[in-house]
Amino acid sequence: IVRQQEPLGLGHAVWCARHIVGDEPFAVLLPDELLWNPADPCLAQMVRARDEVGGTVIAVMEVPEEETKRYGIVDPGASNGALTEVKGFVEKPKPGTAPSRLAAVGRYLIEPEVMDILSEGKRGAGGEIQLTDALARMIGYKPFHAFTYAGRRFDCGDKAGHVTANIALALERPDIGPAVRQWLEANL
Ligand code: G1P
Repeated sequence: IVRQQEPLGLGHAVWCARHIVGDEPFAVLLPDELLWNPADPCLAQMVRARDEVGGTVIAVMEVPEEETKRYGIVDPGASNGALTEVKGFVEKPKPGTAPSRLAAVGRYLIEPEVMDILSEGKRGAGGEIQLTDALARMIGYKPFHAFTYAGRRFDCGDKAGHVTANIALALERPDIGPAVRQWLEANL
């Protein structure tokens, strides 16, 4: 376990784990995003995709235009099935400036070289050291693809998203699902 001692951004948090990561590709999972597909988990889908193209692979989903300012947004190149080439990657673009509606949803397969870039400690959006910026600097050196994940997603960093995730997953459970459903139906 490594603890980030100061809230300096996602890029900094990842950099704090550099000694554990060493010289191998690694996965980053942001736990405030719940990607729910028990039959074929998001990371498993991504690892299969990476076996085809190599390099960096990030999970993306389309978000409404007005939400692009909350995410890392991909500037897309050519697409092949669920894989889209990443030509640019911008953290929380200002409204009206987003290059697409393809948003990073908190799952990344990353090349270890990103640690060298993060070591520079450059600040980006919000004054934080952004993983998005470090990954964007690797474009052109290593393959970089966005993978459109197939499954459900809940943004638990948002209060409504967090509650919705709990309800949705509770409904799927045989032990508590029927009671939760009954309460919902009686109270809606
Ligand atoms: C982080 C990333 C952002 C990504 C998002 C997904 O932002 O910096 O690129 O799209 O997670 O949830 P945060 O939610 O920490 O502000």
